Amino acid sequence: MPGNTLQIHKLTPVIGAEISGIDLAAPMDSATFDTIHQALMDNLVIFFRDQSLNHAEQIAFGARFGKLHIHPAAPSVPGHPEVMIIHADANSTYVNGESWHSDVSCDEEPPMGSILHINTLPEFGGDTMFANMYAAFEALSTPMQTMLSQLTALHDGEMLYRGRYTSNDQARVYPKANHPVIRTHPVTKRQALFVNSFFTARINELSRGESDALLAFLFRHIETPEFACRFRWQKNAMAFWDNRSAQHHALWDYFPQTRSGTRVTIQGDRPFYKS
Ligand code: SIN
Repeated sequence: MPGNTLQIHKLTPVIGAEISGIDLAAPMDSATFDTIHQALMDNLVIFFRDQSLNHAEQIAFGARFGKLHIHPAAPSVPGHPEVMIIHADANSTYVNGESWHSDVSCDEEPPMGSILHINTLPEFGGDTMFANMYAAFEALSTPMQTMLSQLTALHDGEMLYRGRYTSNDQARVYPKANHPVIRTHPVTKRQALFVNSFFTARINELSRGESDALLAFLFRHIETPEFACRFRWQKNAMAFWDNRSAQHHALWDYFPQTRSGTRVTIQGDRPFYKS
């Protein structure tokens, strides 16, 4: 919109940038859209503060970047199936995203990105960590990169979703899909590691023992601190991450306090590997 004076401040050299000087509830002109999209490509996750968006405005902002995704299992805001509820309090037995993952990677076409708005926070804690999966790929040795580039893995929603949101899900079928272990980002063309501990059940071309050992190594590798940034939320902050190049981990260090927000998720395309 005219009058925006967008400023982009990197959080680390590797991942994350905070953007100020914009009201995301307002209509966005194409130059501003291009700047935000490029900031997302460059930084993998972008953050905004002091954004008072209602559900319709959050939907409208997300829809600028693509069709919105409906979560296969998690509860949504009544009347807005594309707005997922993120909530934890003294009665919670889990929180969304409490381990490193890329959202719904068990879909045949996993989400391109997710936009989370937090409106209620504990006094301290409830940060979210984000990690750069290009950096995770690039830090591996050439022989390991070469081997991983030839492999595919099964991502299985059953592992996470069965019984998580309701005990009454016997009749439900959760998504599962095979994806390349290294995926080529469709926009940047860079290679990113694409396995995660929430959904990746096994590497298809290896024996069970080989697959378990390699996945254990990769899940630990993803946690390398130098690949990551940590975002300290404030009321009405927003985070927009690229699920194709980043993983995230929501820290549940605030029990029994309350943390709440809403997420809209943008549809993506089928992961591919191209050397
Ligand atoms: C998620 O979408 O995985 C939850 C992230 C968060 O609550 O910080």
